[in-house]
Amino acid sequence: MSARILSGQTIAEAIKAEVAGEVKRLRDTHGVQPGLTVVRVGDDPASAVYVGSKVKTSEELGIRSEHIHLSAETSHERLLAIVRELNVRDEVDGILVQLPLPRQVDASEILESIDPAKDVDGFHPMNVGRLSLGEISLVPCTPAGVIEILKRSDIDIAGKHAVIVGRSNIVGKPMAMLFLKENATVTICHSRTTDLPLITRQADILVAAIGRPGFIRSEHIGEGATVVDVGINNVSDTDFAAELFAPEDLEKRLKAIENRGFTLVGDVNPKDAIERAANFTPVPGGVGLLTVAMLMKNTVEAAKLRRGI
Ligand code: GUN
Repeated sequence: MSARILSGQTIAEAIKAEVAGEVKRLRDTHGVQPGLTVVRVGDDPASAVYVGSKVKTSEELGIRSEHIHLSAETSHERLLAIVRELNVRDEVDGILVQLPLPRQVDASEILESIDPAKDVDGFHPMNVGRLSLGEISLVPCTPAGVIEILKRSDIDIAGKHAVIVGRSNIVGKPMAMLFLKENATVTICHSRTTDLPLITRQADILVAAIGRPGFIRSEHIGEGATVVDVGINNVSDTDFAAELFAPEDLEKRLKAIENRGFTLVGDVNPKDAIERAANFTPVPGGVGLLTVAMLMKNTVEAAKLRRGI
């Protein structure tokens, strides 16, 4: 078998075009421009890339965007004060505090201080609770993007066995709730799961969100499964890269390692997935692109919900 590659690019473009249309409609019919403020603390290079992409995409779609970049030494109290200010500024519809935060900051308390109506990450306990109750809420962007990629690729979810590897608050747990809402049968596996391959091989839809490059291999993948790779890892070892990529893909990867010092790899061994799965989301070019598109969608959703329009 050679898996169908599910392009995040095409689907992300479609969602962004829909969001841009909605932004225009809000402006024309209500005189409203949705606004997103992203707060970044410190100089984590990956966060800088993600935040840059969030700000740029907002601007492309006509969403008012603001980037607050604070030093790595910013105190917990100062960050709390900034979030509280954003909570009361009416033109701010969405607030996103980029994670990870420096050690002196209590991330949970910061996330809980965000007005749930402006919580476009869907990380506030109120939104987490609403999602688990099946109520309308702002939903975490990456798992929401996974559902979009499946639906828009005509992959059935209802009645299927969705197995998630990883139990993070950002991906694994909300992913489980979204699959339940779509009437899937859901299993969550994690680092303490006994005989992981036995369980993951039963998956119709397998979602890998562990943060370990190429961790999901042939033995984990049932023939004909849909494999969704949420991981984003840097790999710089050329021998390891050779285990992950078929010869026709390897050359490009080795060049990237030579030029940039690394190549981007998901949590799934792509060579194995392409061999065994029916559908596979690549890294890069898969779920990652959807995350930003869903953030834009959430910002517009927050603007509408807050204003009752
Ligand atoms: N860091 C990595 N992923 C995310 C995300 O989805 N939201 C925020 N705020 N930070 C992140």
